[in-house]
Amino acid sequence: MAAISVTILPDASLETDAKVSSHLKMTVPASWIQKKRPMRKLLDAALKQWQLTDRSYALRRKDGTALDLDASLGTLEEGAKLVVGVAAAAPVAPPKPQTPAPPKPSKAYATLRSGARIPLCGLGTGGVPGLVGEQCVDIVSHALRSGVRLVDTASQYGNEREVGRALRKSGAPRGEVFLVTKVAPLEQGYAAATASVVRSLERLGVDSVDLVVVHWPGAWVPEQKDWGAAQWLGGGADSGPNVARRLRRETWRALEDARRNGLAREIGVSNYTVPHLEELMTYAREPPAVVQSECSLLFSNDDVRRWCAARGVHFQAYGPMGGAAEGGDRGAVGHAALQDVAARYPERTPAQVALRWLTGKGVSVLPKSCRHERVVSNACLDFDLAPADVARLDSISDGRPRYWDPANVDKVDIFNPFLDKARVQRELASAGYAAA
Ligand SMILES: NC(=O)c1ccc[n+]([C@@H]2O[C@H](COP(=O)([O-])OP(=O)(O)OC[C@H]3O[C@@H](n4cnc5c(N)ncnc54)[C@H](OP(=O)(O)O)[C@@H]3O)[C@@H](O)[C@H]2O)c1
Repeated sequence: MAAISVTILPDASLETDAKVSSHLKMTVPASWIQKKRPMRKLLDAALKQWQLTDRSYALRRKDGTALDLDASLGTLEEGAKLVVGVAAAAPVAPPKPQTPAPPKPSKAYATLRSGARIPLCGLGTGGVPGLVGEQCVDIVSHALRSGVRLVDTASQYGNEREVGRALRKSGAPRGEVFLVTKVAPLEQGYAAATASVVRSLERLGVDSVDLVVVHWPGAWVPEQKDWGAAQWLGGGADSGPNVARRLRRETWRALEDARRNGLAREIGVSNYTVPHLEELMTYAREPPAVVQSECSLLFSNDDVRRWCAARGVHFQAYGPMGGAAEGGDRGAVGHAALQDVAARYPERTPAQVALRWLTGKGVSVLPKSCRHERVVSNACLDFDLAPADVARLDSISDGRPRYWDPANVDKVDIFNPFLDKARVQRELASAGYAAA
């Protein structure tokens, strides 16, 4: 491989810079070509010759085409004419707009008696109005994709199929998601409750749920449509309270067996008052792992929470925003004392402060929202509340349930579709019982 001669001319832009006027005749040694030295070697040689070292320079052909400084010198032909000029400043890329990192749902857990872990921050799908149809699939899959790992549904909500579809659509690993469902009042009794769990699994499209709870202590049977107060309160084996007690007991036995048979990892109850829980303990072969009940800033449900705490039972809050009637901004979230406390946490919404108050007590929360941004922000609770703020929030509850008082469920279950409630209430009142 022979050496080649090239001419290097100064660009006009160099004259002002370094008073270069003469061109250079340079010989490119054969060894440079053989060893495929890059074009920049030539540029360096020219700059050295002209004593130019303090700026960026570029090499191009005389016709103006740019030369790749990393290309091999072997691509140059004998007698090539090159020009050295000041390199055009590389276009400065406009700074990329800083997209804030998406909020991250908390990964905080409580540990159940069995050692299983339950996420503290979840999503409710029932309520008034609940999440149903495609909206349910959309909201639940969005929450799961965003990292929410606790979802509450119920046979009664009529949305288990959609929750199951959302689970699959989201791609969230089944093992990471804590799925809760419930046995409805019409499904109380051993056979009906067992069938209820199996049907829930089919609708959800899963082999087992993480938790199944008795939806509420009331038990409905179609014959109740013919019952008046005498039947309800007659005291016989088939009176209202006794039928309800028998069905509760059978239902619990069905759930214990469902757990043993691997259909549910944990079992629990919902809307049970302390007397219902005490009754349960008289026949339970195993105590509930979880009690799900109303709990929010407005109604902190201290009796049931204390009962749970004393027995190692996990307490889960439904209606954590104050619920259907006083939910969100109309109630707990809009409460003046909460707004006041929340003003000290400018990075957080009042709703997050209300929920963090609950998770700070080890309570798992099931807020419901039909808005994408809220279902995620409601689960982003990795921050601390000052003890003085917790004490202030502790004082808001007035002890009045915002949903209903299940204490009277054996007298009149206000949700029972079979019951002529007006008639029973009238007869109960005339018999001297307070209306439910
Ligand atoms: N076991 C039971 O008997 C039982 C009974 C009731 C409920 N539950 C469970 O508990 C879940 C929650 O109960 P719930 O839906 O009745 O009441 P909730 O969650 O206390 O309140 C829901 C209300 O709060 C609003 N909200 C949600 N996030 C908000 C935020 N960040 N800021 C302001 N407002 C917000 C919602 O409005 P938007 O939708 O417009 O956001 C809705 O109006 C239910 O979905 C169900 O899974 C269980």
